[in-house]
Amino acid sequence: MSNRADACSILHYALLLTPFFSISTAASNCSPRPVLSEIRNVSLPNANGQQNRGIAFRVGTPGQELIFDPRWPTNNIHIYGSDYSGGCGIYSDTACPTMRGGLYVQRDSTSAGAALGSTAAEEDDRMVPQSHFISDVLSIDNQTSPPLPIGIQNTIAQNKIPHTPLHVLGLGDNSTVLQMLKDTEKIASRTWTKFNGWIGADKEHQRDGYMLFGGYDRAKVLGTGHKIPIGKYNSNCRSRLRVFISDLGLNFPNGTYVSLHKFSLSRNLQPFESCILPYYPLLLSMNNGNFFDRFMQAIDLNSTEWSEGLVPDGRVIPLEKSLPDVNLTISILSGPSITIPYHQLFLPQRDISETTGAVMITGPEKILPIKEFTDNEFPILGELFLSAAVVMANLDAGVFTIWEANQESNDQQLVAVDETGQEVTEFCEPASATTPTSSPTNSPLGSENESTEASEPDRGAVIGIIVGSVVAVAMVVTASSFSGVDIGGGKQRVQ
Ligand SMILES: *[C@@H]1O[C@H](CO)[C@@H](O)[C@H](O)[C@H]1NC(C)=O
Ligand SMILES: *[C@@H]1O[C@H](CO)[C@@H](O)[C@H](O)[C@H]1NC(C)=O
Ligand SMILES: *[C@@H]1O[C@H](CO)[C@@H](O)[C@H](O)[C@H]1NC(C)=O
Ligand SMILES: *[C@@H]1O[C@H](CO)[C@@H](O)[C@H](O)[C@H]1NC(C)=O
Ligand SMILES: *[C@@H]1O[C@H](CO)[C@@H](O)[C@H](O)[C@H]1NC(C)=O
Ligand SMILES: *[C@@H]1O[C@H](CO)[C@@H](O)[C@H](O)[C@H]1NC(C)=O
Ligand SMILES: *[C@@H]1O[C@H](CO)[C@@H](O)[C@H](O)[C@H]1NC(C)=O
Repeated sequence: MSNRADACSILHYALLLTPFFSISTAASNCSPRPVLSEIRNVSLPNANGQQNRGIAFRVGTPGQELIFDPRWPTNNIHIYGSDYSGGCGIYSDTACPTMRGGLYVQRDSTSAGAALGSTAAEEDDRMVPQSHFISDVLSIDNQTSPPLPIGIQNTIAQNKIPHTPLHVLGLGDNSTVLQMLKDTEKIASRTWTKFNGWIGADKEHQRDGYMLFGGYDRAKVLGTGHKIPIGKYNSNCRSRLRVFISDLGLNFPNGTYVSLHKFSLSRNLQPFESCILPYYPLLLSMNNGNFFDRFMQAIDLNSTEWSEGLVPDGRVIPLEKSLPDVNLTISILSGPSITIPYHQLFLPQRDISETTGAVMITGPEKILPIKEFTDNEFPILGELFLSAAVVMANLDAGVFTIWEANQESNDQQLVAVDETGQEVTEFCEPASATTPTSSPTNSPLGSENESTEASEPDRGAVIGIIVGSVVAVAMVVTASSFSGVDIGGGKQRVQ
């Protein structure tokens, strides 16, 4: 009797739960749509309306548009405030706000608040010394986050080149932004993807790039991608994205391929390791077996003048030199071959005007965005390598993927990836991507008034969990060694 009663109530219970089970089954097969941030010229009200290039997030209420650059191993967000003084290196007060990607005005933000969590979080962020922490909201892809810890750098007395030109988006192992996006179910895994776009001389050779969080865009990559475990932290490779290069060489218009690899002449190609550092402002930096000399010989170039401006430490190409349309192919061991087209290999010199604060081309000479190491520093593939390659790093799965970019594709086919690296193409939200909101400029998804219960059917779009805790990491990263290489990211070589 009691057994039957139990069976009945269990059945009843199960029937009651059925709809919930089916919802949860559907939910486990779907994923939030990856969050997109374009890399492009952004107009900056907080820099006198000037433009700079990068990914823009809005900080505070009302949102202030600021440009960020991803950094490793930093975990936090660090921004430069309007009270910032004396820290622009050799940039003038007019050029400084553009160089920084806009300056944050704390008093204008009604959501700015006191610091959250542990101040020890600063330990990991020594490259931006003297930040003090506050909290404020961040809008990514028009969706507002809960308050996040934000380091503000208001005063810094250094007369050298700034090491971090733009605002800092920490994408380290315990990144507050990636964790927030995951906790609020905006992304299924702590994954970021970057394609830098093109910054060539003419419009034809300029393309916007993007960063994606929580997945990648299959329409903008070629092939299946090459997966590599994310390495251990090491000051040689702060991003932990190490790849082996099996060869690199030049493709001449007449069909000739010239290897620049040091072992190629002995027919004994030895792969060598290199670090993908997506914020390093050059294409690459290496002196592996006199790579640089071979490169210069192959294109019959002799330049001893260093580049300045937004792509510093490369070489200025003398005006009288006519350049062949050579492409540089970088072959990843058992992975894709990445071909940097000639129009991204010889770039205009851009810098910020001291008098107007505008980004402009500073002269007729082209520059070669390659730095020659004078000793055996670790080879680097920088930001401009991502003009022809796409990198996706999944911190939860501990794996990154490198693809050859489908550089000219304008299609979009977003794919989410989960914590195990599985791809998910079904998104847990209404098919229409343009869900109307009551306030289009600043959708109130993160507002306290939004009840999680009331929004049950649309869990993926609700920010419910406040991310406040920040994990302390005691890494000794000094300002001078921050980038791992001797580069300012600023205006000119430090002599
Ligand atoms: C990240 O945080 C966890 C604890 O949540 C800690 O064990 C780990 O060491 C941290 N990793 C880094 C790289 O800071
Ligand atoms: C170099 O790249 C350009 C642009 O992708 C392409 O049109 C051209 O055919 C390539 N040249 C060689 C020699 O591979
Ligand atoms: C192709 O061009 C390169 C560079 O100008 C030259 O060194 C090479 O000899 C040429 N190859 C042929 C087959 O013409
Ligand atoms: C390159 O130019 C410098 C200075 O103009 C000169 O000293 C050097 O010998 C030149 N190198 C070659 C390989 O022509
Ligand atoms: C972005 O701004 C730079 C500097 O003003 C300019 O040279 C470039 O053409 C712009 N790019 C696009 C895609 O408009
Ligand atoms: C975000 O909001 C701006 C201004 O309201 C709008 O122009 C833009 O299209 C929106 N972007 C997305 C991805 O919805
Ligand atoms: C949230 O609620 C408070 C008081 O309950 C109200 O003053 C405020 O206007 C509300 N905000 C929104 C965005 O609805």
